Amino acid sequence: MSRKVVTRWRVLPDALAVRDHAVQCIAQAAAKALTERGAFHIVLAGGSTPRAVYQALAGLQTDWQNWHVYYGDERCLPPEHAERNSQTAMQAWLAHVPLPAVQHHVIAAELGPERAAEQYAGAVAGVNFDLVLLGLGEDGHTASLFPGNPLGNEPGAADVLPVNNAAKPPSARVSLSVACLSRSRQVVFLVTGAGKREAVARWRAGEAIPAAQVRCEKGVEVLLEQAALPT
Ligand code: 6PG
Repeated sequence: MSRKVVTRWRVLPDALAVRDHAVQCIAQAAAKALTERGAFHIVLAGGSTPRAVYQALAGLQTDWQNWHVYYGDERCLPPEHAERNSQTAMQAWLAHVPLPAVQHHVIAAELGPERAAEQYAGAVAGVNFDLVLLGLGEDGHTASLFPGNPLGNEPGAADVLPVNNAAKPPSARVSLSVACLSRSRQVVFLVTGAGKREAVARWRAGEAIPAAQVRCEKGVEVLLEQAALPT
């Protein structure tokens, strides 16, 4: 019996407001973690929505030396490929701040789903994240956890899953599991655009879409642009 997921919906007027609120959430979470534990462990969302957030983070005044960056998923493409989630984050943000390279935990997705998943499991083993950023796909997926596929939501599930049949190209991907994504003090979804209305409606109606499976002790926060709210 899965525990009920507490979800807080924060409807914001436009994508810029979603960006600004997300940056505020991340900055506050980082300041708290750095003060209390001397380190900040964040999991990044893929796709295009977070790009504006990453660009804004490039200007954040913080102790980058103690940030640890992970990825919720990665596409099985060459490392420098423009469609890699790590490239989006690097170009918008991480190439412009002094984050120690050893603390930038890139998924070696170029190895293929199985080998990359096996290798990345070592990077996230035992890590309790401070903040997990996620996006929402139009079919209700999040990270690379797609409807009809294993989500890794059962006790003892693997932290990292190989994906060979993703509905969103490329079909070969690597994804943190629901269980691993849920091992965080905070979970924040970024949802913008009218294209997400149907997935949001299904989520708010209580449908068990993959995004709705991710949970968090303090509740999951969804930063939702007004345009993505079902009419
Ligand atoms: C990916 C992402 C995926 C993404 C959603 C939303 O690799 O594509 O991890 O889960 O977050 O598909 O994508 P957009 O932000 O581009 O709408």
